[in-house]
Amino acid sequence: GPILVLNGPNLNMLGTRQPEVYGSATLDDVVELCRQTAHRYGREIAAFQSNSEGALIDRIHRACGVESAIVINPAGLTHTSVALRDALVIPEVPIVEVHISNVHAREEFRAHSYISPIATAVVTGMGIQGYAAAIEFLVRSA
Ligand code: DQA
Repeated sequence: GPILVLNGPNLNMLGTRQPEVYGSATLDDVVELCRQTAHRYGREIAAFQSNSEGALIDRIHRACGVESAIVINPAGLTHTSVALRDALVIPEVPIVEVHISNVHAREEFRAHSYISPIATAVVTGMGIQGYAAAIEFLVRSA
């Protein structure tokens, strides 16, 4: 099945949101990069962004039996959401957690992730290239 690319709160503002931290690429650029990377391996993606925790959780529930892997930038929910973590284990598919910035080089509260312990892999600080790396890893490992 397709790879689900999920983006959490405020990532719809990529390109204008703190460009010195997150760069100038937009969310559309990120989705296009993921799609192009998947296409090189004959794979498809489905992309979803929401500022709402519940909408992200609902989308993960709909992935059950449909999408075969998940790439997620949980954004601020990384550091707060037990509910998002609980949802991510339900589909029983590989999960790669992506952060555009290096969360370990920033405020201390960003160093803790509720998601990392249930992720197959974590990419942090590679800019939007981290999404392409996540897709490559997933398509080459299954
Ligand atoms: C982020 C890092 C998080 O700490 C932050 O809340 C974000 C974006 C990143 O991509 O670097 O919204 O996940």
